[in-house]
Amino acid sequence: MLRHTNDSISVIVDGQVVVVDPGTLIVAALAMRGVRGTRQSVSGEPRAALCGMGICQECRVMVNGRSHVLACQTVCRDGQIIRTTGHL
Ligand code: FES
Repeated sequence: MLRHTNDSISVIVDGQVVVVDPGTLIVAALAMRGVRGTRQSVSGEPRAALCGMGICQECRVMVNGRSHVLACQTVCRDGQIIRTTGHL
């Protein structure tokens, strides 16, 4: 069972609920969920967060239907639906 305190929020990562503290970055929520890949390259190779500072663009995910959101630069909001396409 996931911890859920009064201060926690929930996001949906690839259809699974992840409970996080406010201020948690999406990339951390992905790691908590066990997601190691965020997307695939145009040639089908798996990609994952690399730099953690908004430079490499490898952490791009879909958030609430919006593509190319940088997981390492975006804070989780309660109820967000996050989708990845590059499971490793
Ligand atoms: S991990 Fe490099 S831009 Fe997000």
